[in-house]
Amino acid sequence: MIQSERMTVVRQAKIAHNIFELVLHGELVQAMTPGQFVHVKVSDTLEPLLRRPISIADVNKDNSQFTMIYRAEGRGTEVLSLAATGQQIDVLGPLGHGFPVEAVPAGGTALLVGGGIGVPPLHELAKQLNARGVRTIHVLGFQSENVTFYEQQFSKLGDTYYVTVDGTKGTKGFVTTLLDELKPEFDAFYCCGPLPMLKAMENAYPEKEGYLSFEERMGCGIGACFACVCQTTDKVEKDYVKVCSDGPVFPKGVVQL
Ligand SMILES: Cc1cc2nc3c(=O)[nH]c(=O)nc-3n(C[C@H](O)[C@H](O)[C@H](O)COP(=O)(O)OP(=O)(O)OC[C@H]3O[C@@H](n4cnc5c(N)ncnc54)[C@H](O)[C@@H]3O)c2cc1C
Ligand code: FES
Repeated sequence: MIQSERMTVVRQAKIAHNIFELVLHGELVQAMTPGQFVHVKVSDTLEPLLRRPISIADVNKDNSQFTMIYRAEGRGTEVLSLAATGQQIDVLGPLGHGFPVEAVPAGGTALLVGGGIGVPPLHELAKQLNARGVRTIHVLGFQSENVTFYEQQFSKLGDTYYVTVDGTKGTKGFVTTLLDELKPEFDAFYCCGPLPMLKAMENAYPEKEGYLSFEERMGCGIGACFACVCQTTDKVEKDYVKVCSDGPVFPKGVVQL
């Protein structure tokens, strides 16, 4: 159920250049599934007015805490990066439809491909796939080494490969550069990142089952304002979907790329 709650900041840390890890405590955590997101009111004032959508990167239901990882790049996320331990933050969520963890059977292999700030939701997904007995391979693409994060956390969960555009960490190039070399064997792929990455993955594995997580500018976050609509490939049955409430995760082939 979607709720709004004043959650408490457990801790916040800078983990890479302009990248922050924020841990919050509250009851909302009990309903979270991987690939969903929360809509965060970054300040108690009217400025900025709109909430900011941020993915769920880690969930700990035992102590009612979850983690988000975000890039402080604009007005709202800069305000958020100043939140200190004990402070309360208004959070709406959990929102949207996440990754189907049951798409790969126990004993199977999932390929998880992420780019930049699309990487965080893959962490909770990898944890939950592992818990179901699914092997995970992680291919994580970034601009440069100084914005990479969570190497230890991902490495504990499965084979982890980094790719950077400038070659400062791992393979030089894009995730597809590495995938061409690796030729991994897997049952289904899950991808979250910029649109060109989603498109490249859809084209690279036409015969595989795949799930793509989309990012769009959002207003309400709950399906009421139509700010986040995307065209579908199926112009007959339904010609658009809302990323916030129908997504953010869609099976490959649904959204027009
Ligand atoms: C479902 C979803 C999950 C996301 N998960 C993460 C995450 O885990 N970590 C992370 O760093 N970022 C994530 N983003 C992107 C994040 O929402 C934007 O970077 C953030 O809203 C920018 O806010 P700002 O105040 O820094 O920028 P500003 O430029 O000041 O924002 C102005 C307006 O544009 C919107 N906006 C700007 N960029 C984006 C964007 N890329 N997507 C959606 N709205 C945007 C803002 O919400 C705001 O309404 C996610 C976006 C979506 C839709
Ligand atoms: S953000 Fe309002 S409908 Fe999606």
